[in-house]
Amino acid sequence: MKVAVLGAAGGIGQALSLLLKTQLPAGSELALYDVAPVVPGVAVDLSHIPTDVKVEGFGKDDLGAALQGSDIVLIPAGVPRKPGMDRSDLFNINAGIVKNLVEAIADNCPEACTCIITNPVNTTVAIAAETLKAKGVYNKNKLFGVTTLDVIRSETFVAELKGLSTTSVHVPVIGGHSGTTILPLLSQVEGVNFSDEEVASLTHRIQNAGTEVVEAKAGGGSATLSMGQAAARFCLSLVAAMKGDNVVEYTYVETNSDDAAFFAHPVRLGPNGVEEILPYGELSDFEQNAKQSMLEGLRNDIDMGVKFVNG
Ligand code: NAD
Ligand code: LMR
Repeated sequence: MKVAVLGAAGGIGQALSLLLKTQLPAGSELALYDVAPVVPGVAVDLSHIPTDVKVEGFGKDDLGAALQGSDIVLIPAGVPRKPGMDRSDLFNINAGIVKNLVEAIADNCPEACTCIITNPVNTTVAIAAETLKAKGVYNKNKLFGVTTLDVIRSETFVAELKGLSTTSVHVPVIGGHSGTTILPLLSQVEGVNFSDEEVASLTHRIQNAGTEVVEAKAGGGSATLSMGQAAARFCLSLVAAMKGDNVVEYTYVETNSDDAAFFAHPVRLGPNGVEEILPYGELSDFEQNAKQSMLEGLRNDIDMGVKFVNG
C-alpha cells in the first residue's frame, strides 16, 4: 500500500503524516510532497519513528515521483482561512492548486483513490472530477471529498452535551462541507433524544465549528490537528476496505440523486473505492427543511468548480 500526501509540510499535512506513519499497516509506503522546502526534513523527522512504514519526502519538482505507484492520494495542499473569511474566499488560490495536483495524479497514478481536503471542498471535488474527465481517467468511485471532520466534531459535541462516552455516539452528517450545507442528522442518533432547542443549537454549532477554530487561532490558520485525525481515520478506513473489511464512512461523492451532483452520503467502501452509496434514511421535518434550503447553494458551489475547469 502506498499513500501520498500532497501538502505534507502544512498544518494538516504534518499531523496526518504522523498519524499515518504510526498507524498504516506494516510494509506500507508514505510519500510526502510539498512545495515548501521543509518537506524533506519532515520526512527525515518521521523516519526516525520505529514503525514498518517507509517515509520519503519529495520537493516541488518531484511530484511525479511522489505519485507513481500510489494507491491513495490525500490532498491538504492550499491556503487555509483567516477570521472573517468564508471557505469560498479560498477558491481563487486553491482551485488552481487542486487542478494542477489532480492533473499530475491523472498522469502518474490514475487508478489511485483521491481524497480532497483542500477547501472549498464543495467546489474542489468538482474541479478534481472535471480535471480527471478532461484527462480521460475519471472514475467516480475513486474520488472523495473528506467530510470526516464534520462527523467527528458532531460526535464530540453530542457526547459532551449528553454526558456520553464519545465511543458510543455515532452521528450521520450529509450534504457538503461549508456552513448550512453541513447537515448533521441528529434525529438518527441512536438512543439519544434532543429537544427542538438542542437540535437548533447543536446543528448551528456543528455548521460553524470550522469558524470556531479559525477565530480561536486568531489569524494562525484553521483546524489542523482534528483534521489530521479525521483524514487519518478516512484513509485508514479506505486501507481496511481495500484489504477486504466491511467499512462505511460518510463522504462527499458523486451521486445519482436529485439532491446535487456531489453529496455526502454513507458510503460502503471496498477494494475499488466506493462499493455502494447507501441511502441516508428518513429526515425529520427540521432536517428536510434545512436540506431544501441549502441545496441551491451547494449546486452553485459545484457549478463553480465545473466552470473553472471547462471555462
Ligand atoms: P497550511 O498552510 O498549514 O498547509 C498547506 C500546505 O500546502 C503548505 O505546506 C503549502 O506549502 C502546501 N502547498 C501549497 N501549494 C501547494 C502545491 N501546489 N503543491 C503542494 N503543496 C502545496 O494549511 P492547512 O491548515 O494544512 O490547510 C490546508 C487546506 O485544508 C486549506 O485549504 C484548508 O481550508 C483545508 N481544510 C479542510 C478541512 C476539511 O474538513 N476538508 C479541514 C481543515 C482544513
Ligand atoms: C474546517 O471545517 O475546520 C475546515 O473546513 C477549515 C475551515 O476553514 O473552517
